[in-house]
Amino acid sequence: MMKLSKKAMAAKRMSETLHLYRCPICYKGMNVIEDRQLGCVNNHQFDLAKQGYVNVVQQAKKTVYDLGLFEARNQICRSGFYTPLMNRISMLVEELFTTGDELTILDAGCGEGSHLTELLDCLEQESVGIGVDLAKEGIQTAAKHNDQGIWFVGDLANTPFNNQSFDLILNILSPSNYAEFNRILKDQGLTIKIVPGANYLQELREQIYQGTEQAEYSNQATIDRFEEAFTLIRREDVKYQVELSTELFNHLIKMTPLTQDADLTRLKPIDLITVELEILIGMKKVM
Ligand SMILES: C[S@@+](CC[C@H](N)C(=O)[O-])C[C@H]1O[C@@H](n2cnc3c(N)ncnc32)[C@H](O)[C@@H]1O
Ligand SMILES: [Zn+2]
Repeated sequence: MMKLSKKAMAAKRMSETLHLYRCPICYKGMNVIEDRQLGCVNNHQFDLAKQGYVNVVQQAKKTVYDLGLFEARNQICRSGFYTPLMNRISMLVEELFTTGDELTILDAGCGEGSHLTELLDCLEQESVGIGVDLAKEGIQTAAKHNDQGIWFVGDLANTPFNNQSFDLILNILSPSNYAEFNRILKDQGLTIKIVPGANYLQELREQIYQGTEQAEYSNQATIDRFEEAFTLIRREDVKYQVELSTELFNHLIKMTPLTQDADLTRLKPIDLITVELEILIGMKKVM
């Protein structure tokens, strides 16, 4: 059988999930038009890129994240760097969603898409996974490497999704927009937010921020904001260490915004790095 192109596959997946989408300009429903666009009755149209994603952002926004960063992030994810975290998330999802119904999952700020793919691979439950990110380079990398998800370049402040579309929003090491999350979550929906723990990439932080206040990181303000927006039903820490080959170390220093202003040539190689992440699970507050 002939293999569908990435664009045709994306058109097919979007056609099967049309009830989830709305036009980000006029908020009407959208259709897939001739396998090449997503569009609404008011003629707002968004092209399907040949790589298999749709960009619904009106004006391109420059982010600090470039293609090199997302490719490095992809290599790090593929090495299993975040697998203990993703395994724990998938166990929690299986435990918290027990109806057996198909789950609709949005990865908000999905970057290069590996986390969503890893979760979809782990879950036994039927699920539809959508990733959205403002960085076109992230979504291009996601669509290139991951065939399972549906990928959008979009802004978390105005997503192309209908009210009450998702059972689960994942928000991993990314900014959030809780008003928008609550709009698109189903009433019984959950948000799983991952924030860095105090010792996340500590060995790298120590080199970059030696002696400055930034060498120590507190996530308390982020957790407080999450608790204002959702009813916190679970909070737990995942902590482990990862051995780094020279190759992985080189990917690691390219994949994190921490090193954005650092002179990478002055960094000393690290062979064991700490990954500490906090999992926050919030239930939508229904007014
Ligand atoms: C540190 S990266 C994390 C990406 C991914 N979740 C991961 O863990 O690999 C933060 C991501 O948030 C995205 N982002 C920042 N502001 C955004 C916005 N307003 N809407 C959508 N994505 C946004 C960035 O483009 C970037 O991909
Ligand atoms: Zn429209």
